[in-house]
Amino acid sequence: MKLRSQNWYGKLDKDGFIHRSWMKNQGFPNHVFSGKPVIGICNTWSELTPCNSHLRTLAEAVKRGVWEAGGFPVEFPVTSLGETQIRPTAMLFRNLLAMDTEECIRGYGMDGVVLLGGCDKTTPGQLMGAASVDLPTIIVSAGPMLSGKYKGKDIGSGTDVWRFAEAVRRGTMSLAAFMDAESAMSRSPGVCMTMGTASTMACLVEAMGLALPHNATYPAVDARRTALAHESGNRIVAMVKEDLKLSKIISRQSFENAVILNAAIGGSTNAVIHLLALAGRFNIPFKLTDFDKIGAAIPLLVNCMPAGKYLMEDFCYAGGVPVVLKELSRYLHNDAKTILGPTKPLATYTENAQCFNDDVIRPIKNPLKVSAGIKVITGNLAPDGAVIKTAAATPALLEHTAPAFVFENIEHLKANIDDPKLPVTKDHILVLRGAGPKGYPGMPEVGNFPLPKKILDQGVVDMIRLSDARMSGTAFGTIGLHIAPEAAAGGPLALVETGDLIRLSIKKRELSLLVPEPVLAERRKILARTQRELLTPTSDKTVYSRGYYKLYIDHVMQADKGADFDFLLGSSGATVTRESH
Ligand code: FES
Repeated sequence: MKLRSQNWYGKLDKDGFIHRSWMKNQGFPNHVFSGKPVIGICNTWSELTPCNSHLRTLAEAVKRGVWEAGGFPVEFPVTSLGETQIRPTAMLFRNLLAMDTEECIRGYGMDGVVLLGGCDKTTPGQLMGAASVDLPTIIVSAGPMLSGKYKGKDIGSGTDVWRFAEAVRRGTMSLAAFMDAESAMSRSPGVCMTMGTASTMACLVEAMGLALPHNATYPAVDARRTALAHESGNRIVAMVKEDLKLSKIISRQSFENAVILNAAIGGSTNAVIHLLALAGRFNIPFKLTDFDKIGAAIPLLVNCMPAGKYLMEDFCYAGGVPVVLKELSRYLHNDAKTILGPTKPLATYTENAQCFNDDVIRPIKNPLKVSAGIKVITGNLAPDGAVIKTAAATPALLEHTAPAFVFENIEHLKANIDDPKLPVTKDHILVLRGAGPKGYPGMPEVGNFPLPKKILDQGVVDMIRLSDARMSGTAFGTIGLHIAPEAAAGGPLALVETGDLIRLSIKKRELSLLVPEPVLAERRKILARTQRELLTPTSDKTVYSRGYYKLYIDHVMQADKGADFDFLLGSSGATVTRESH
């Protein structure tokens, strides 16, 4: 098999000279250019992405494995998205990372790729880009941080931040204690150690057969993760020789397995968006409603925050993803393909699986919750659907009809939420709009917005909250998200007024605005006339009119399509038709 990289490094002409000579300035000898598989190590290391801050050193372990297997490793950086650091929201730039990854993989002379990512958007962004090129690809995840420890108790990334922040607002936690807790929460490199989006995506790519077993759960600082990185370096070289491209592994079965696992781990609602976008890259027919059809009845087995009480370190020590896959084997496509090759399907991952703590990973006959999968709700308030994570919701609120209380955008919410005179009761349904893909822009994780202070002061801890936003995978509550179309794209969410009745019925999978259609039609006309500025809620509009923001607003699709760009669907393949010199 002729290696793709030989089109760069194997030529005995001017172009070959240029490609080799400039690489030789790093001290590579002649023989590395003569037919070794070139393995790109696509790294989202950055000190501004603290969850990925150790990936520079983890890359060295991948390189060891590549060299050992007879390959030639070359590490390259791509856009890094630090969920907790970048503004306005990392999701705005997921597609930028995907484009960056796609064009780097295609443009450079490599035969296979190892994706080093971890923090929420880095795994999906890299994988979306890699999918559109379709080389042999393997994922090595950053791994979770060590468990947070505060005053003798476990505290979880994100999940306890929301709790502590509410306690400070209620006056039951001092600011000094709040600051102590922040030091005690993030104690090591690695991603959020709750079942947030990062660990969810790491678990899902393991279940999709795109990473070695245990990739999701070994803590970032565990020596076994370094060994796994080394072994992944070994494996990618073999995958190149086997021509085992992503498209030979991924099928609709892989997506169905991911949905099933997502339900059983109490995974993030963000997985919905990322899997839909990924399916679009692979041209696999896969719809929002598939999450409900395939996953709704699956029980919750993994007892991790935010749906449960343990942390990723506990999940690792209990046996990790292979144990969950074994428990779920009656639901899964156990013959789905994996990076291990055609004779080693998903069932191979569970061969040595053993559970060491059946409270952390519940057996299927003793689940934490039944029917724990994400539910998809539709109705005249969400014609193209919305999602709700019932595993993290208050059961009593799942069948509820009540008046709406509307916030126009996040700034309106922040300015009013602590007002003691806010005319809101605990039975209201809180509505936030202007936080979808186009409206914010970037669809931030504000769907788990705080309760009004006057309601918190009554000891109430949950209310129904509806929005076109996303929410952090570490969050909890009765929260309807991803309402599509969003308000800024002309969705009916823009028409809701405070006092309108809204009905949420999980049994019927319904989200309805109980306002007669002629009234809504009239409101639609008024909205068009007054041209309410839903697209650009801030006063500074220049940033929205040029550059990447403009590209994003003009081309982002709605949440039910994964919020990818309309022009990025599908694949362009790995061929580069023109030389650079
Ligand atoms: Fe990076 Fe949670 S903020 S994984």
